[in-house]
Amino acid sequence: MKVVVAFLALYVTIALGVKEELFKKCHENGFCHRNRHYGSHILEAHDWPYRINSTSLKTSAETSHIWLEILKTISHDKEIVLDLQLSLLNDDNLRVQVNERRSNDLKGVGSLTTHRFNGTGNWVLVDSVTEGKFKSIDASLKEKLGLKYGKYHSAELTYYPLTLKVYYKNQLQMTVNDKKFFNLEHYRTMEDNDMNMLPFELDFDMFKDSFKDSSKDTIPFGPESIGLDFTFNGYQHVYGIPEHADSLSLRDTTNSEPYRLFNIDLFEYEVGSTMPMYGAIPFLLAVKPTKVASGLFWLNSGDTFVDIDKTHLKGVSTHWMSENGIIDFIILVKESPEAINKAYGELSGFTPLPQLFALGYHQCRWNYNDQEDVLQVHENMDKYQIPYDTIWLDIEYADSKKYFTWNKKTFPDPRKMMLELDRTGRNLVIIVDPHFKTGYFVSNELMKQDLCVKDNENKILKAHCWPGESVYIDSLNPKATEYLTSKYQMSSKNTFMGGDDITNVHLWNDMNEPSVFDGPETTFFKDTIHYGRWEHRSIHNMYGMSYHNATFHALTNRLAQSSRNRPFVLTRSFFAGSQRTAAMWTGDNMSKWEYLKASIPMNMNQGIAGMPFSGSDVGGFFGNPSKELLTRWYQTGIWYAFFRAHAHIDSRRREPWIAGEPYTSIIRNAIRLRYRLLPTIYTTMQRTSVEGVPFMRPLFYSYPGNLDTYEIENEFYLGNSGLLIAPVLEEGVKEIIIVLPNVKEIYYDYTNGKMSLESYYGKSQIIKQVTLEDIPMFLEGGSIITEKQRYRRSSKLMINDPYTLIIAPNHDQGKASGQLYIDDYETYDYQNGKSAMIEFEASDKGISSTLIRGEGEEFKVTNHVEKVIVLNFTKQYDAKPLKQVVVNKQQVVEFEIVHNNHLVIKMPNTPMSQNWTIEYEYVESSSLHDEL
Ligand SMILES: *[C@@H]1O[C@H](CO)[C@@H](O)[C@H](O)[C@H]1NC(C)=O
Ligand SMILES: *[C@@H]1O[C@H](CO)[C@@H](O)[C@H](O)[C@H]1NC(C)=O
Ligand SMILES: *[C@@H]1O[C@H](CO)[C@@H](O)[C@H](O)[C@H]1NC(C)=O
Ligand SMILES: *[C@@H]1O[C@H](CO)[C@@H](O)[C@H](O)[C@H]1NC(C)=O
Ligand SMILES: *[C@@H]1O[C@H](CO)[C@@H](O)[C@H](O)[C@H]1NC(C)=O
Ligand SMILES: *[C@@H]1O[C@H](CO)[C@@H](O)[C@H](O)[C@H]1NC(C)=O
Repeated sequence: MKVVVAFLALYVTIALGVKEELFKKCHENGFCHRNRHYGSHILEAHDWPYRINSTSLKTSAETSHIWLEILKTISHDKEIVLDLQLSLLNDDNLRVQVNERRSNDLKGVGSLTTHRFNGTGNWVLVDSVTEGKFKSIDASLKEKLGLKYGKYHSAELTYYPLTLKVYYKNQLQMTVNDKKFFNLEHYRTMEDNDMNMLPFELDFDMFKDSFKDSSKDTIPFGPESIGLDFTFNGYQHVYGIPEHADSLSLRDTTNSEPYRLFNIDLFEYEVGSTMPMYGAIPFLLAVKPTKVASGLFWLNSGDTFVDIDKTHLKGVSTHWMSENGIIDFIILVKESPEAINKAYGELSGFTPLPQLFALGYHQCRWNYNDQEDVLQVHENMDKYQIPYDTIWLDIEYADSKKYFTWNKKTFPDPRKMMLELDRTGRNLVIIVDPHFKTGYFVSNELMKQDLCVKDNENKILKAHCWPGESVYIDSLNPKATEYLTSKYQMSSKNTFMGGDDITNVHLWNDMNEPSVFDGPETTFFKDTIHYGRWEHRSIHNMYGMSYHNATFHALTNRLAQSSRNRPFVLTRSFFAGSQRTAAMWTGDNMSKWEYLKASIPMNMNQGIAGMPFSGSDVGGFFGNPSKELLTRWYQTGIWYAFFRAHAHIDSRRREPWIAGEPYTSIIRNAIRLRYRLLPTIYTTMQRTSVEGVPFMRPLFYSYPGNLDTYEIENEFYLGNSGLLIAPVLEEGVKEIIIVLPNVKEIYYDYTNGKMSLESYYGKSQIIKQVTLEDIPMFLEGGSIITEKQRYRRSSKLMINDPYTLIIAPNHDQGKASGQLYIDDYETYDYQNGKSAMIEFEASDKGISSTLIRGEGEEFKVTNHVEKVIVLNFTKQYDAKPLKQVVVNKQQVVEFEIVHNNHLVIKMPNTPMSQNWTIEYEYVESSSLHDEL
């Protein structure tokens, strides 16, 4: 939502231009600097400090776990013992954990839990994860252990030098500790530090923090970092580890800043940067053209840096460094990126299918001034015939930014407003941040119930955010969910949520990194204390998730008995697992062309990292976009899974009608195109919710065999619908270059969702002329998409509308197929089988529609199909002229050939609840049939 600039000027007296200096670089961050130093010096070492004690091998009776000791040699008479554990998750994902043995009684750590934080996995992994068994464990050799697991996997753990190699179909995919960067800073005190150092270690900032703003960090445990390198053998490209405003394919960082994962309120950030942002997902995907892909899931929620080395001949090498916690990672190797994402989803959860409205258009700004203003915008959307589903309220709705209150002057009757929105199927989203102003009932209750985050002396932490001095809810405490549930509960007295019959109000969690205006790097001190007596240092990157998760469960409890019970929560901060309970947006963008451009790789990387329900502020958050930029942003934004316009409080009003003609009409067309495609979009989201695949799908993802697609970041597919989009991302351009990823397939030009005479075959790249109206789109041969072509005010009002099918025959045989998913769009009944998947097949003979119901309760499909369009019909089927079109073997229906090419069939209101067919009868149909 917003930034801290003004307040920083107040609290930290820092000028605008130097904001980067608020955030630590690697060389200013003790553990990063030390691990990089360790890496560069260990390369020259002749022997290495870590080795495995081969006689320590233990396996569980059912061969699901393997334990070994790692010995860290400090000197000839001093060794530290670490525990290594290998296990399998969901059959063939290899998990490796390394922990140190720590006493329960450490000096100077007060009441803190003494052992290393090992709970990240517990938070992130879903309950349904099962433990697998190794197929074989070969310990016949003294120097290494051979493992076989899954269908195609094997691994080899060498004891000295310590390395782990992972193979898929006998091909080496990954080498762990290839460069010997393995490092675990074991516990020691400042006094005996000298006796615990290795020769190639640096003691920089082990017991103090020399970064100015964090110098008060007491670092109670001293140095506790971990580091490890992973080489992805034979790979040239790696993706993921959001959130960064950077390229899709991660770049080499050997001579620059590593990618940092540390959730912060980074304002006015720059594009093309490895600086951390609001959220972090420590998951990396590596892809190569030979039908194999690898994933690395680093289960650590502390401050983390990742160096990428692309200069390595063996493949991309990565160096992971975290400030504390245990070494805990999962290696995934599968046949494709899809299979990796599916497996990642089976580990960390999938995005639940949202209500349909959440995929509609969201209208937001900081702030709609008052109730009148909200309803005025609402009416104007109808007046200008622009569909929309949700209007948003930023922090100003509350009385003095005290969440759970309304400003009575500006919002005298929120309930009335909510009911008015509901009348046309519209929703309201309101913001509730995790900081609560001191001195009102919410903060008082939180303090009384011991639900606040504590400072390093175990006293309630008070720090500054929007409302001034605030306390922060400790949402790591399960009781926080109960507390929020009481605040959101269904009750006629709960005027905050409008009463017990209001079900169209949903929630927005912002500032949950957390943002702390007077804190180091705009967040908590790392020695802040949470529930469980854990330092904030250990869980920092999960705090945001803990809050939106608590919000989600509270809202779930509120809506449980209603007929619209899928909650919607938007979060700015996130971690692995966040996809289960929230959508995210990329935070505070600038209204500049380069940010529009960067939004595509950023949202694609979100999808790769398993959190595809994402979007960026349409129009950009700061500043005032030109009318052209605003228009182009809408044309791009309609493809984000989460499609919301938002603006800073100082930005001029920019609702779609303000720009005037021709812009308003072009923006309207873009938004209407989104609505027209909602059947395809909802189907895409459904696939995403069960398969974990990206919503905005990178080209390499569909065509990993084509290396030329690996760095394309200005085009994408809409899921697996076959719709390829190449939005215009630059000012004033008259033509754009478009990469077509599969030269063996036809790409039908479907710009602006209109049939066209153009199609492309055998070209890997084309140049297309564009005007301001144009959203370049292509339907890939072989696909079938569905549309609802009537304008309605909201998605809810479209539910009963009839469908149109667009069929794009493929090059080889003129065949195509596609799917349409339907349910009630609002409840969880689909989990009991109340849903329908309709499969379409097309060939030169005709079309068939097959309805496959969910298992269980019957879902009644009430829609009809009104029109079927077959692109390039005449050319494609090499035209014997079409004599007639027969539906369900009995009814001859009207058809038309448009542009001398495309077939348009007017359907006799055919119910989608039944299987139906279309058959073509050609003039010489019998001879044609013989041929095929
Ligand atoms: C290796 O492990 C065995 C079995 O646990 C133990 O007896 C032995 O002392 C260990 N060796 C070293 C050097 O720690
Ligand atoms: C974490 O470590 C502690 C102490 O060794 C242990 O009691 C606990 O079971 C571990 N928890 C998990 C989730 O591994
Ligand atoms: C989410 O909240 C529920 C309910 O309090 C809790 O059981 C669960 O552990 C939480 N999960 C995460 C990831 O915060
Ligand atoms: C949001 O901000 C980042 C960082 O400046 C930028 O790279 C990203 O592309 C922005 N999102 C959009 C939609 O521009
Ligand atoms: C139609 O298909 C033919 C044969 O595949 C192809 O040569 C032609 O370019 C296509 N035309 C259009 C308009 O799609
Ligand atoms: C449609 O056809 C499929 C496959 O033949 C069949 O399983 C299904 O029951 C049919 N559905 C209806 C509604 O007739």
